Amino acid sequence: MGVLQTGVFIFPIHFIPPGAESFKSYGICNTSHFEEMNGAPVPDMHVFGYLLHTHLAGRGVRGVLYRNGEQGDEFLVECRYQTLDRTEITFGGLSTLNEMCLAFIFYYPRNNISSCMGYPNIQQVANELGQEASDAIEGMTAIDLVEWNNETIKKAEKACKEADQTVVIKTIDELVRNETGFIREIADNIQVPCKDISRTRIASQAKRNFEHQAFPPMTSKAHKIKGIFPLPTLLFIPLGFTWLFTSSM
Ligand SMILES: *[C@@H]1O[C@H](CO)[C@@H](O)[C@H](O)[C@H]1NC(C)=O
Ligand SMILES: *[C@@H]1O[C@H](CO)[C@@H](O)[C@H](O)[C@H]1NC(C)=O
Repeated sequence: MGVLQTGVFIFPIHFIPPGAESFKSYGICNTSHFEEMNGAPVPDMHVFGYLLHTHLAGRGVRGVLYRNGEQGDEFLVECRYQTLDRTEITFGGLSTLNEMCLAFIFYYPRNNISSCMGYPNIQQVANELGQEASDAIEGMTAIDLVEWNNETIKKAEKACKEADQTVVIKTIDELVRNETGFIREIADNIQVPCKDISRTRIASQAKRNFEHQAFPPMTSKAHKIKGIFPLPTLLFIPLGFTWLFTSSM
């Protein structure tokens, strides 16, 4: 089996404004070049599990599979954050006080692709927020100068969603290739009840209030990532992780 890391590229281009009741981040993975990067044909990826990951400001994560595109599957990770208790901007990074937006996808048979993560064009985002920026570095600096209020927070969320994405794809041999992509609309969720986890030892973690999200229906047409959700093999998943899974079997 293999694990594919998807979501938002871990870098300070990922930012979350302070004082946000709700702020969503998006990272797209475009699989159209998996084959040429893999060094051998890529068999269909049968997904049997996934692990969602944020840090302290995370409130919800969902994954969305797009199968209509001409070039192969795309997998979007959306993370929702709350920063009402913060007065400074939160950047993407490794520390617990920085943020991440990740979905680790467990699948078989394994291939050589280890991660596939997207991030928005920060220069475009800065410009949308009325800041001068002629490249990514200036864009990142400019984001820190924005005066945050409900209006600019909403504007930033929209700008990050609508900006072009760079998709960084890595193999286990650290071969890197950058793709481009964009965030498509997300169809309405099928609502499913949360799994009853009250009797498990990880109930306290659930207080962090992660959401269980269903995934929009997928159109067929065989493609690279096959049957990503729903995931039938919960039996093989260690108990400690079951709270992360939807119960839409
Ligand atoms: C990984 O890449 C090598 C070439 O670098 C290739 O020979 C091998 O078959 C690939 N492995 C898989 C599982 O695709
Ligand atoms: C891909 O993007 C990353 C992040 O911006 C950058 O560090 C890297 O140099 C780029 N790699 C290539 C091959 O363009």
